[in-house]
Amino acid sequence: MTPVGRRRLVVGNWKMNLGERDARALVTAVAAAFPFERADGALAPAFPCLRAALDAARGSALAVAAQNVHPDDRGAYTGEVSAPMLAEMGIRFVIVGHSERRILFGEDDATIARKLVAARSHGLVPILCIGESEGEHDRGETHDVVVRQLRAAVGTDPEVVIAYEPVWAIGTGRTPAPSDVAAAHGAIREELMRRLGPPASAVRILYGGSVNAANAAGLLAAENVDGALVGGASLDAVTFVAIASA
Ligand code: PGA
Repeated sequence: MTPVGRRRLVVGNWKMNLGERDARALVTAVAAAFPFERADGALAPAFPCLRAALDAARGSALAVAAQNVHPDDRGAYTGEVSAPMLAEMGIRFVIVGHSERRILFGEDDATIARKLVAARSHGLVPILCIGESEGEHDRGETHDVVVRQLRAAVGTDPEVVIAYEPVWAIGTGRTPAPSDVAAAHGAIREELMRRLGPPASAVRILYGGSVNAANAAGLLAAENVDGALVGGASLDAVTFVAIASA
């Protein structure tokens, strides 16, 4: 269970879906129905829709997140977006190190560590994604993998959100047993304690990977699970709000 002082956080990662018009409509619908009295909420649209999302979220407690950020503030990096650009817009969170970025775009731990530093130096809160592959899961290496990924990226700054996302659970409809989620989150909390000391108890650890309205309550009840990072199911307002209400 989440102790007092660690508010739950439910984040929707839209990935490369929805244009500006749909983004505006979905943010408006979520902002109107999200249970803000019980949890914090954020949505992460694609870069071209951030402005529309911020406009639609204005006046509500719904935060807007980016899905990625470049480690440098500016320069000759065609197609990239920097932390100061996001901060100037009013973006609150940025997803860093999602397994799709790691696997499909070759992001390594060193790059991800630099992205965390960039985000923090401009006041953004990074949502650091970690998690084991299917092979690592089958070999019983989950604990080692998440600890290694944390060590590579988390320094001494406790202003971070961790998302534990087993790669084999993303977009597959498969989820770990809540007891396995609790074990992974416990290992993450322990490593955070080693790195950050007492402030680690305030760091929120989200579960991500095939969260839906039917399985959310069970996953969110596991120990040290402080919320969810939701992909596919965040593209529907009713479903996303149902997850947050679970
Ligand atoms: P999914 O994605 O909910 O569609 O499995 C989760 C994520 O990639 O963050």
